[in-house]
Parts: sequence; structure tokens; C-alpha cells
Amino acid sequence: MENNINSKVLDKLTKICLCKVISKATIKKAIKNGAKTLEDVQKVTGAGSGGCRGHRCTPMIEDIIKQELEKEN
Ligand code: FES
Repeated sequence: MENNINSKVLDKLTKICLCKVISKATIKKAIKNGAKTLEDVQKVTGAGSGGCRGHRCTPMIEDIIKQELEKEN
């Protein structure tokens, strides 16, 4: 339980898309709400549309999608 709370706090503090200041928690929420591809997540969250055009955040978003979809299955 405590670990779960800590990881939730950490997800909020961990910024995945630095350009648009989008947290890991926001990315996970988008996936939970049905986003299944990089394009879906980018469209819903705005991640990847910052100054670096997704150069920094795209690989991390792809990893999170993979992890979250594996958890669902
Ligand atoms: S870090 Fe996401 S667009 Fe630059």
C-alpha cells in the first residue's frame, strides 16, 4: 500500500515530456482511458508537441504504453 502511494507520487513528479511539462501520471491516465498508441497519447495529452518535437519524450512514452498495456493483459 505504502509503495503504491509512493509510486503514484513519483509518477506525478516525474516529467516525461519536459517541453510541455507532462507527467508520467498524465501519460498513464491517458492509457487507462483508452489511448493505445503513441499517436493517441500525444493527441490526448499534448506530449510530443513541444520545442523538441517529441525527440526526448517519444521513446519514454512508447515504453510506458508497452508497460501499461502489458499490465492490462
Ligand atoms: S520533451 Fe516532449 S516535446 Fe520535447
